[in-house]
Amino acid sequence: MPVIELDNITKTYGRGGFFRKQERFTVLNNVDLSLRAGECLGLVGRSGSGKSTLGRIMLGLEAPDSGTVRILGQNVTGRKTLPTGLRRAVQVVFQDAIGSSNPRLTAGEIIAEPLRNFDKLKGRQLKDRVAELLEQVGLSPDDANKLPGRFSGGQLQRICIARALAPSPRVIVLDEAVSSLDMLIQARILDLLTDLRKKHDTAYLFVTHDLRLVRRFCDRAFFMSDGSLHAFDPEKMADMKGSKALEELFNAILPPMPDSERTSDGQRLDQVAV
Ligand SMILES: Nc1ncnc2c1ncn2[C@@H]1O[C@H](COP(=O)(O)OP(=O)(O)O)[C@@H](O)[C@H]1O
Ligand SMILES: [Mg+2]
Repeated sequence: MPVIELDNITKTYGRGGFFRKQERFTVLNNVDLSLRAGECLGLVGRSGSGKSTLGRIMLGLEAPDSGTVRILGQNVTGRKTLPTGLRRAVQVVFQDAIGSSNPRLTAGEIIAEPLRNFDKLKGRQLKDRVAELLEQVGLSPDDANKLPGRFSGGQLQRICIARALAPSPRVIVLDEAVSSLDMLIQARILDLLTDLRKKHDTAYLFVTHDLRLVRRFCDRAFFMSDGSLHAFDPEKMADMKGSKALEELFNAILPPMPDSERTSDGQRLDQVAV
């Protein structure tokens, strides 16, 4: 059974404002996706292409306009809150660690919250588990007493990752969650995630701009473009050379070419023979 199954998901948002008539624009257009236990699915795409929207819909945090979302076989489409069992099963780490952590709670309290809620841990057991999680993400047990303001962005990001790991979820959406980490820490976190995958069959949706990470870490890869998911094989990009699919993939990842780098008939300057 897939851990998450999206069936024919469409999502539109309103654009326009006060004075103009609101128009709808389509962010996801009939998207199907199935994430199996222990699978890591890489997702790349230009900024604004709908990756985060897809992640939120997958976790039941946002309702689609149409289509069905199933988490561990349960239809959760349009539910405002997930049942407790599913709430612990799906976790997310956003890119914006600072915005997603409460500045008044210590690191220890942030990580302890899901352990208290879901595992009913307290006292020594709770403290030990928090210390263990801090060490797993390369921080020190002493960091438990510090407030978010005392950490760097990368350290705070690791606290968010520890918090997501705390309830032993079945699925973690990592929405550009390792982008801000330096390479050594990034490697360490990815090793940790790979370990959990082997031990507990944890599945990941791994949203990133870094194709090298997709190649190293993911089993399947998709790029998002025009509201659709397109599968690609990150190992076989050389075979795609010159193809329409590769062009679309690069367009999906790279920012648009500035006009100043195009000739008047729209050709890219680096492709014009001199
Ligand atoms: N809550 C919202 N209301 C209106 N528009 C939104 C909302 N969330 C996202 N969008 C728009 O939907 C598009 C896709 O956004 P997003 O999923 O964040 O893309 P990505 O994560 O790929 O950068 C963007 O144009 C964004 O501005
Ligand atoms: Mg995003």
